[in-house]
Amino acid sequence: MTDLLLGQVLSFAGDPFLEGEAAARHEPHGGVLVSDGRIVEVGKAAALRASHPQARVTDYGTGLISAGFVDAHVHYPQTTIIASWGKRLIDWLETYTFPEEMRFGDAAYANEVAGRYLDLTLAHGTTTVCSYCTIHPESVDAFFGAAAARGLRAYAGKTCMDRNAPEGLRDTAQSAYDDSKRLLGKWHGRDRLSYVITPRFSPTSTPEQLAALGALWREHPDCLMQTHLSEQLDEIEWVKELHPQARDYLDTYEAQGLLREGAVFGHAIHLADRERDRLVEAGASLVHCPTSNTFIGSGLFDMGLVAQGIRVGLATDTGGGSSFSMLRTMAAAYEIGQLRGQALHPAQLWWLATAGSARALRAEDRIGNIAPGLEADLVVLDLASTPAIEQATRRAESIWQQIFPSIIMGDDRAVRAVWVGGKPAFAGPGTA
Ligand code: GUN
Ligand code: ZN
Repeated sequence: MTDLLLGQVLSFAGDPFLEGEAAARHEPHGGVLVSDGRIVEVGKAAALRASHPQARVTDYGTGLISAGFVDAHVHYPQTTIIASWGKRLIDWLETYTFPEEMRFGDAAYANEVAGRYLDLTLAHGTTTVCSYCTIHPESVDAFFGAAAARGLRAYAGKTCMDRNAPEGLRDTAQSAYDDSKRLLGKWHGRDRLSYVITPRFSPTSTPEQLAALGALWREHPDCLMQTHLSEQLDEIEWVKELHPQARDYLDTYEAQGLLREGAVFGHAIHLADRERDRLVEAGASLVHCPTSNTFIGSGLFDMGLVAQGIRVGLATDTGGGSSFSMLRTMAAAYEIGQLRGQALHPAQLWWLATAGSARALRAEDRIGNIAPGLEADLVVLDLASTPAIEQATRRAESIWQQIFPSIIMGDDRAVRAVWVGGKPAFAGPGTA
């Protein structure tokens, strides 16, 4: 079956951080031709209709067709503790996160939350996430099982912690290696799934555990490795005490073989010059989690890192982040940029939530954009989804003026449809 989706089509031919809005392609009466799960052709609606009369047409009118959102750093096990009041990172972890994560040894509970989480994110237009699980292998099986059932391209790994976590939420250097290796063998490359080697962060791993995971990564160099880096100032002080031999926070990973292409560091707010230089040299990726950084009070990410050539993605960081919506996340990135004197253009925000995040996950040849050969993961948005947004777009003279109110004020009510692997996967209210 060949499908032809019609609407306004937004895609990228380049990087708007390098080329400005000229990097974006907007076709107001456009079409995306999809077959066998992939995008086959992109162009003007009339021309595609004429050249493919046999295709099944879904006409979204003025709906905006974009690549589905890519959320490059989430903790699906924190779905139920999102929006928990009033703590900073370490006591937030101890008060809310660890007690909830304790429950994921129960496969039935893990399955239920994994399914609920992926249904929520799909309803928000997100078609790929990169998730932390818990220390329990059951939590990994639950996540990948739920992602496979929905046909999603998805990234995840068992979170490893061998200290500074409660009894019942600690593994060891050896068991982290063994369990991660077994789960990697079971899931990596199956369907659209990728295993990610996942030490939680240096405060909860001994150097021995980080070294064991470094060894595992050397055995499986095509995997990603994800962890947290320099999120809050007291966390950085704690890392200094716990790893006295390290030159800085990044060195706790670097010294154990956990810094190279394919390393994905969440947050990375308070970086020393050496750390910035090494991240650039090593070809590592950073993930900006703006709603989390304001919600937990972590600090203001420096988007200037993109100009230094670092791959930067965007993420909700559920449940430290306060929303499942990548629209809301773009708004928070804009606000943080403003507080740093860096007004991000809507093209840059949209790119971060799609192609930028895909690039941070080294998946830009598969997802995150609309171009022939890429996988057909698409979101269709209503750019007038509430009365407040509709009235703000009435005098719009460019696509960016039309889109920006949805970035700043939009949420899941803007999502009309989601396509995953070339198939309809979600239809919003009013789109039977
Ligand atoms: N650092 C280590 N673990 C976490 C987590 O679960 N959330 C956030 N925001 N930071 C972390
Ligand atoms: Zn996180």
